[in-house]
Amino acid sequence: MKILVTAGPTREPLDPVRYLSNRSSGKMGYAIAQAALDTGHEVVLISGPVALAAPPRARTVQVTTSDEMYEAVHAWVRDADVCVLCAAVADFRPAKIEPRKIKKGARSSFTLELVPTRDILLSLRDLPRAENDPRPFVVGFAAETNDVLAHAQEKLRAKGCALIVANDVSGAGVGFDSDENELTLIFASGEIRVLARAKKTVLAASLVKIFHEFFNL
Ligand code: CTP
Repeated sequence: MKILVTAGPTREPLDPVRYLSNRSSGKMGYAIAQAALDTGHEVVLISGPVALAAPPRARTVQVTTSDEMYEAVHAWVRDADVCVLCAAVADFRPAKIEPRKIKKGARSSFTLELVPTRDILLSLRDLPRAENDPRPFVVGFAAETNDVLAHAQEKLRAKGCALIVANDVSGAGVGFDSDENELTLIFASGEIRVLARAKKTVLAASLVKIFHEFFNL
């Protein structure tokens, strides 16, 4: 199969020296890319800036902003069988990028106007496909600090994906930057599966097995 994975954060510049970003190490997305390669799949990894080495056999596309990630996903999604959108995309970006460094001056406060970025996951919901060309199996992620299941179920509904992988990022030791995670999988059918706390590499292998189940491999 051809598997497209997004990973890492995006960076939204304010001026030549500053940006807004999200906490994301990229470890979960890179682990999924590696697990897919290990089971013989073709992988396109679209990655924001992370401190990880690109998996040697993946086609890796490095991007910085959410706009660049959007364009890269749409450039590669056409023949993907599975799309795993694991990246922590910034939801907002500065309305204006100043061409020169913003100086502190004598200001006592500073207000930044933000505008929404394009939602990449949502954009895949209505992707036009050729006749007889099945929609890809689209997997979204939901990093939540509270009411994890309710928020994830709402995201699954709103974004029209086949599967939402939710994780609780409120606790220490799992999620951000950690090598471990604990995942709740919510399928469009309503089925819920919990992948107990384990290394991200182990969880990634379990996720790839689930893709195999879906495609009867
Ligand atoms: N996502 C995306 N493009 C965006 C924002 C999010 O593709 N501009 C994707 C993420 O990669 C993830 C999913 O949407 O797979 C959920 O992201 P999240 O930030 O948790 O959800 P939001 O819809 O942004 O909702 P909120 O921030 O209010 O929780």
